[in-house]
Amino acid sequence: MAARKAPEAERARSLEQLLAAKEIVISCGSGGVGKTTTAAAAAAMAATHLGGKVLVLTVDPAKRLANALGLERFGNTETQVPLSAFEAAGVTPRGELWAAMLDTKQSWDDLVRRHAPDAKTREAILANSIYQNISGRFVQSHDYIAMERLYEIHSAGTYDLIVVDTPPTRNAIDFLEAPDRMADFFSSKLLRWLTAPTKSRVMNLASKPFYTVADRILGSQFLEDIAEFFGLFQTMAPGFVERAEAVTRTLADKRTTFLVVSTLEAAPLHEAEFFIDALDERKLNLGALVLNKVLPAYLRRTATTGVAKRLCADADDLASAVAEAGDPGDISRVLGTIGESFLNYQVVAKREAEQRAGLARSPEVVAAVPYFDADIHDLAGLLQLGEQIWR
Ligand SMILES: Nc1ncnc2c1ncn2[C@@H]1O[C@H](COP(=O)(O)OP(=O)(O)OP(=O)(O)O)[C@@H](O)[C@H]1O
Ligand SMILES: [Mg+2]
Repeated sequence: MAARKAPEAERARSLEQLLAAKEIVISCGSGGVGKTTTAAAAAAMAATHLGGKVLVLTVDPAKRLANALGLERFGNTETQVPLSAFEAAGVTPRGELWAAMLDTKQSWDDLVRRHAPDAKTREAILANSIYQNISGRFVQSHDYIAMERLYEIHSAGTYDLIVVDTPPTRNAIDFLEAPDRMADFFSSKLLRWLTAPTKSRVMNLASKPFYTVADRILGSQFLEDIAEFFGLFQTMAPGFVERAEAVTRTLADKRTTFLVVSTLEAAPLHEAEFFIDALDERKLNLGALVLNKVLPAYLRRTATTGVAKRLCADADDLASAVAEAGDPGDISRVLGTIGESFLNYQVVAKREAEQRAGLARSPEVVAAVPYFDADIHDLAGLLQLGEQIWR
């Protein structure tokens, strides 16, 4: 499949060219802007038009979309989207589309299995009550695990293109920093402190008022479980640190690109710009900016302004032309209101266009997706959205 990769030096002029040249595409942006939808649409388009084996690695997709991709069961298992789904959408794909969902808990277990120095430590970690309680909801673990899974799948070399959806973080920067944070954690004072010989620390702690209370309420067993957990965890440090560094390298690789998704609302747009700067600072490749849920382009055509103005001005005359629709007064009011609403929408569309033009730094590809009337929950919908950003 290397044949479809374009020469590196060429700047992509469309999402099609960008995806043809890359192996990893990371879809990111603030909450609810359409990251998951865009990632799935881009992957579906690549599988349809470019061919090869394409994987979309999703995080928490809406249930109906998950079903459409054949992801009924929650899990890390990669599943091929059946050909029948493409047929139902009226297309014959050149390649294969695969999909997987991120299962944080299972991914952590896999990591432990890989990095534990021996079987005894491995079993002790997996059985540790603290580990079981927090592995599914480690602070920031979603971010790290998404990047870690990506690295794992990419290294296996099974796919020609992997499109990664990112978790709904408070801040899109978080996952860029997740691998470094993981490495830092293992060399931190906190971890060293937590893994100091259990007895002396518990004794030490017991002399401090807070821990005297904690000990009374939680029991020294709890404090010891914590110490045991971090002690065991530290045995995996070398593997983890090395791995986190490899993940960071993958993000910076020239075969990896970022696709920033945003709506034109102030807050997501602001975050997108902030994120674009952060990519730039880190010398990471910004491949495309997808502006989602924008008003359709025809709203900005001057010809339509004339039509709307006429609807308002000649509402009475036009009403007589469609007299069979109802009372002439009602028809005239409806036509007038439609014309006026259209003109109002045009004002918003023009403001949107100005916002787009005012974006500080522009990536290789900027694409706009209109707001669709219906929710996007099947392959046909994804391909319809994909068509808007493809060429
Ligand atoms: N262009 C569009 N037109 C209409 N609906 C859209 C469009 N893009 C996305 N949606 C819908 O908006 C909702 C949110 O989209 P999506 O789940 O892709 O966002 P997200 O950025 O992944 O959200 P989260 O941050 O929660 O993960 C979905 O119901 C999706 O179908
Ligand atoms: Mg999402």
